[in-house]
Amino acid sequence: MNQLEEIKKWLKDTEEEPLEEMSGFFAKRIDSYEEHMSPWSAYYEWLGELIPKNAKTLLDVGCGTGLELDRIFAYRPDIAVTGIDLSQTMLDKLQSKHGDKNLTLICGDYFNEHFGENSFDVAIAFETLHHFKAEKKLQIFKKIYKSLKKSGVFLEGDYIAESNEMECYLFDELKRRKEKWKIPDGIFVHFDTPLTLPHELSLIEQAGFKTEILGCRGKENTPMIKAVK
Ligand SMILES: C[S@@+](CC[C@H](N)C(=O)[O-])C[C@H]1O[C@@H](n2cnc3c(N)ncnc32)[C@H](O)[C@@H]1O
Repeated sequence: MNQLEEIKKWLKDTEEEPLEEMSGFFAKRIDSYEEHMSPWSAYYEWLGELIPKNAKTLLDVGCGTGLELDRIFAYRPDIAVTGIDLSQTMLDKLQSKHGDKNLTLICGDYFNEHFGENSFDVAIAFETLHHFKAEKKLQIFKKIYKSLKKSGVFLEGDYIAESNEMECYLFDELKRRKEKWKIPDGIFVHFDTPLTLPHELSLIEQAGFKTEILGCRGKENTPMIKAVK
């Protein structure tokens, strides 16, 4: 079975399950969240290794409980981190692990929060942007670009669709489910709508970055992208 066939089967099995709002989705699963993300542990280690040695400031968009920050702080305990997430429950867990670090946490929507200008050496977004349309992604890539210093690095690791057919299929299914459950536009729901890799890269490049695909570590649908300002 290819990825799309597996997804179609899963969508069929879950078609009667209501869509859940994004922040509530993660809060409800806080006790099992880190275990659920363990298949990505090699990526968290890798992010720790990828942070440039001279980086002093880092923006983590959709930081959650800070699984990537666990590894980044292991390499760079002094780095100053700003983390943004919709879920206070996720941020509370992060704070409880790293309260002794130089950590600024913002509970809010990263589409609305200001990231500042020329403020960060590095920005990361891991497994957080695969729920949004291309227009929204472009908006956030532009904000990240603006927030980085000259030659700053943006690292994105995320779920990628294997084909245009899969990308379109999932957006159509989301539309259908939102109509069924009468969810108004502008409410974030937890439903995966990944873009294809060429689509994702084109948006990052449109925001001004030069991109490089670093590859995968154990998950073929999760490439790591390095983008330089
Ligand atoms: C799968 S988790 C990834 C968290 C972390 N990066 C990791 O790898 O463990 C996705 C996170 O993105 C956050 N998120 C989703 N949409 C968001 C938005 N619009 N603004 C801020 N955070 C958002 C969720 O609350 C959740 O904590």
